[in-house]
Amino acid sequence: MLTAPVSVRDVRPEDRRALAAVLARSFYDDPVTSYFYPRDRTRLRHARTFFGIRLRQLGRQQQVHTTDDLAGAALWALPGRWHEEGHEVIQYLPTIPAMLPRLGMALRAMRHIEDHHPAEPHLYLSILGTDPDQQGRGIGSALLGPGLRLADEDGLPCYLESSKESNVAFYARHGFTVREVITLPNDGPSLWLMWREPR
Ligand SMILES: CC(C)(COP(=O)(O)OP(=O)(O)OC[C@H]1O[C@@H](n2cnc3c(N)ncnc32)[C@H](O)[C@@H]1OP(=O)(O)O)[C@@H](O)C(=O)NCCC(=O)NCCS
Repeated sequence: MLTAPVSVRDVRPEDRRALAAVLARSFYDDPVTSYFYPRDRTRLRHARTFFGIRLRQLGRQQQVHTTDDLAGAALWALPGRWHEEGHEVIQYLPTIPAMLPRLGMALRAMRHIEDHHPAEPHLYLSILGTDPDQQGRGIGSALLGPGLRLADEDGLPCYLESSKESNVAFYARHGFTVREVITLPNDGPSLWLMWREPR
């Protein structure tokens, strides 16, 4: 069956609300999202708040891409901008109540992930998500396109943490290889740390 090519563009400020909801749906069953927001009943709402905050950083340190029908989004941090500064961390305050019963564990987990972040300059794919009912149609691959092209043009490697083993083959098809697998504290989920050299 032939499918129409996916048209990818930069995210605009007016897209943020809808895209935060798309990403929350896309990551609802994600092991890391469930680890940070364990309550099924409120996870969608808290994840929407979290992704809304991430999307608000548009333009300053990220490249953020979507499709014309807002079927998904790819968020890339530019080299040297993957780590949020102290004043930027404050914006995450609204997400803390959702993590409160396990805040210490969540902070340890975030530190564990950051400790494994590569030091070499790279583009960081911080988030990639397609609306669940639109997956498997080439949207995720198309959303990766502009970031991968930028990396290749600038001779930069790319880095990501995959929270599902089932995504490893998908990323491998786009040139990523697994560097290391880590496990989050307190019997947490595993993360597949993946790296791609420029072409
Ligand atoms: C990972 C994710 C972003 C992929 O998005 P997607 O839109 O489904 O991606 P694609 O459609 O391009 O590719 C997915 C599969 O569909 C296949 N596919 C691509 N185009 C297709 C088409 N036109 N028709 C049918 N299948 C197609 C691809 O071959 C691919 O197979 P693979 O997984 O064996 O490589 C999506 O599954 C997702 O949002 N998952 C939940 C959130 C998540 O895990 N994000 C990544 C965190 S690291």
